[in-house]
Amino acid sequence: MEKMQWNKTCRQRMQEDVHKLKFHLMPPGGWLNDPNGLCQMNGIYHIFYQYSYEPEGGNKYWGHYTTTDFIQYSEEDIAIYPDDKSDRSGAYSGSAFIENGMHIFYTGNVKLEGEHDFIHTGRESNTNYIYSEDGMHFSEKKTLLTSEVYPKDLTLHVRDPKVSKIKDTYYMYLGARTKKDEGCVLVYSSKDLMDWTYDSRIEPEVPFGYMWECPDLIYLDGESFLICCPQGISKQGYQYENYDQNGYFKVIENKARDYQTLDYGFDFYAPQTFVDEQGRTILIAWMGLPDNTYENPTVDRGWQMCLTIPRQLENRDGKIYQYPIQEIIKLQGNKKELLISKQEQSMEKGCFIHMDVNNTPFQIQLNSLRLSYENNVFQLEFLDSGYGRTIRHIEIEDMQEMDIFLDTSAIEIFLNHGEKTLSSRYYDGKKDMMISSTNEIQIQYSIMKSFEINYKEMD
Ligand code: FRU
Repeated sequence: MEKMQWNKTCRQRMQEDVHKLKFHLMPPGGWLNDPNGLCQMNGIYHIFYQYSYEPEGGNKYWGHYTTTDFIQYSEEDIAIYPDDKSDRSGAYSGSAFIENGMHIFYTGNVKLEGEHDFIHTGRESNTNYIYSEDGMHFSEKKTLLTSEVYPKDLTLHVRDPKVSKIKDTYYMYLGARTKKDEGCVLVYSSKDLMDWTYDSRIEPEVPFGYMWECPDLIYLDGESFLICCPQGISKQGYQYENYDQNGYFKVIENKARDYQTLDYGFDFYAPQTFVDEQGRTILIAWMGLPDNTYENPTVDRGWQMCLTIPRQLENRDGKIYQYPIQEIIKLQGNKKELLISKQEQSMEKGCFIHMDVNNTPFQIQLNSLRLSYENNVFQLEFLDSGYGRTIRHIEIEDMQEMDIFLDTSAIEIFLNHGEKTLSSRYYDGKKDMMISSTNEIQIQYSIMKSFEINYKEMD
């Protein structure tokens, strides 16, 4: 009860926060991490997510939003509580598979009492199942796989089931860490979604990170890609600047090859995709990172973290391109031409900016964010609004255009219409955005309309 009261206070504070986002989904007070169970069923999109009542994070539940247009959202009841012996330390991430209703697979995390490292001892990672006919009412939990049955060379870090179907067989992909500290993906197969048999594993040719979280095997134009989050890769020049990676491999005969980063920003992790009823492959990620050294000052205002804008994926010559879905583009108001220069000009926060770059070097300042391009490197620098975030880079040889979706405390940048992206939070605490540029540049600018979110009343 105390927890609920506290959460109510958090919700009120959040509504008044200057950092409250206009077109990014955030928790209804409290904490949010990975998007979970993304799907569309009978026209309704379901966006579940890792949720804690406390803004600084706590035991994990599955929060739930629904929408039919990605503009108006409803907060639904909590879908999964960590209230069972199989998930008492957290209803961790997972996915939803739609076929005659909604089939949810998630990790029931259990931390045992006593002295443990929780890697080799002291943890259970149960693969749990829940069925829902309507996406609103959820069945009892059933445990399908336990740590006892995963291959013996693995640690207890096995989690984040994602399920899909090929012909008449269902496949489940689980992120895993071996005892040699090598990340991989376990593949299970089933004919009925209930009985799962170990099939194989997807591994890199050379070890790449000690753990792969949130695996997602997708098909785009006849090619398979494994999206996942390898942990523990060292920075190499401008590559892998975050400790926890997000990216994708091409998968050929269970070998993961040609790793590419999905997003180069400070705040992008645990992306999940789903194919909607129109056949679009849509990706949403958590705008946050597990092991970071930077902060979000919103914790004191009752909330923390948000999700990215939904992005549609495309395969262009074997590379994944990401661009906001049409519904988000529709939020853009009339486009105005604006000539920016050394002289600061004021813009609305919550806007869209387009710029034709044509490989010309530039340096633009948006309050205390500095964006620049020179010598084939795009750069985002935080002057004093990063709360520990400093600088991130993207190497890009042919930089034709740049699109910026700039929210009150989140920025998503798309280069060359989604060839490369960079997402980050920033906190300048200002109501307006002042823009200036070292050279005169013509940009297009439009104000973004806000999401409309119907929050639940709390008693
Ligand atoms: C990724 C992750 C998942 C886990 C979840 C717990 O951010 O660590 O591997 O299921 O978050 O909240």
